[in-house]
Amino acid sequence: MNKKNKNVDMDRLQDIYDELKAIGADAAEPKARRILAGLGFTREMQGRATKNFSGGWRMRVSLARALFMEPTLLMLDEPTNHLDLNAVIWLDNYLQGWKKTLLVVSHDQSFLDNVCTDIVHLDQQKLFYYKGNYSMFKKMLLQKRKEQMKAWEKQEKRIREMKASGSSKKQAEKKQKEVLTRKQEKNRAKNKKDDDEDGPTELLSKPQEYIVKFSFPEPPSLQPPILGLYSVSFKYEGHKPLFRNVDFGIDMESRIAIVGPNGVGKSTFLKLLVSELTPIQGEVRRNHRLKIGRYDQHSGEHLTAEESPAEYLMRLFNLPYEKSRKALGTFGLASHAHTIKNKDLSGGQKARVALAELCLNAPDVLILDEPTNNLDIESIDALAEAIVEFKGGVIIVSHDERLIRDTECTLWVIEDQTINEIDGDFDDYRRELLEELGEEINNPSISAHNAADL
Ligand SMILES: Nc1ncnc2c1ncn2[C@@H]1O[C@H](COP(=O)(O)OP(=O)(O)OP(=O)(O)O)[C@@H](O)[C@H]1O
Ligand SMILES: [Mg+2]
Repeated sequence: MNKKNKNVDMDRLQDIYDELKAIGADAAEPKARRILAGLGFTREMQGRATKNFSGGWRMRVSLARALFMEPTLLMLDEPTNHLDLNAVIWLDNYLQGWKKTLLVVSHDQSFLDNVCTDIVHLDQQKLFYYKGNYSMFKKMLLQKRKEQMKAWEKQEKRIREMKASGSSKKQAEKKQKEVLTRKQEKNRAKNKKDDDEDGPTELLSKPQEYIVKFSFPEPPSLQPPILGLYSVSFKYEGHKPLFRNVDFGIDMESRIAIVGPNGVGKSTFLKLLVSELTPIQGEVRRNHRLKIGRYDQHSGEHLTAEESPAEYLMRLFNLPYEKSRKALGTFGLASHAHTIKNKDLSGGQKARVALAELCLNAPDVLILDEPTNNLDIESIDALAEAIVEFKGGVIIVSHDERLIRDTECTLWVIEDQTINEIDGDFDDYRRELLEELGEEINNPSISAHNAADL
């Protein structure tokens, strides 16, 4: 290399150094590592080629990439769905400190409460804007629905009165429309709005209330121990052992939430409990009268394809047609979906049929694996409420903080090939996890809940 070329190279190198400094390149690696660690990547995994990851982990890589780039507008669609609880806790905490605009679609209420400052509600083909977090929105919506109901009842009463005093139905409705138009014009003048976005005035339609509410029947009392693992070891053929010498048991009062990173063996643990898998050592003992109700995100895939939901429940539980439809209604399945074939239902609709089936089975113990994934917020609330009122035992694997808190489950963590109860409550767990990751702990989620209750 001659001297001139060397100088050119040195200058070029200096330019690159300057540029790297300007974009904060030395801070880039720690930042990338911080995000990846928060999303559950171990140090070894952080260096692994992306192509060697499974689908779930690749999804996390792209989430990490989006967070790293810090775009002006970050859009996330159900970001918590495939994360484990630890990653959800980290993401929740990280996004609480997010300085730019974030638009998120999620059915995770705690996440929405902690992260969002505004809620946009898509209701009857329109967007409605609310200030505040999700809990605040929920309260305001309740109030709004009450007012809408009142206005509708008033309108119906007027129409009835007009009809009673001799007007035809058409005349009465026309008059009522005129009243509404005048009201709207008055409002418009008050708000100094000159656009005509509302279009022609229509009569108020009855506010549609979407309610999901159900309860599990009370189970008979069973003598403990009702279900337990005794010195159980397990591994999948040709793979590393997942469990070694595990002892675990539940009774009818148990309320257990099992947590742990993706792939640690949570679903496997549940499958051992329900004897879908057999331990390679040790045994599973179960009260022979015990009825287990199982639900997971694949529940619904077992539905018979050619039957309709109504026919399916009628056949399984020997129900009359009307009872079957009523049951489906309480689980929030829209009535038009009661009579189409199971194979044509959406994922969420299948989940509702599966929930109805679970409930009608009258289980003594509920074993739920990520039950919230296919459900909307209303159904998750209804499920949480049903679990709270349920008199039997409950084991849940979930990354939904709200569900874990509402059902007052104690946390059990799977690590080091065994399962142990965690000392302390959800907030202790959250604090310890974030401290371990070296994160600054933002506004603990509990205070966000309390704020909404004021
Ligand atoms: N049938 C199988 N054969 C071999 N390996 C399996 C099988 N099923 C699961 N595994 C592996 O066993 C480990 C535990 O899987 P499991 O589904 O129990 O994890 P998990 O904790 O439920 O994860 P997630 O949080 O992603 O649901 C994983 O590494 C998984 O790849
Ligand atoms: Mg699982």
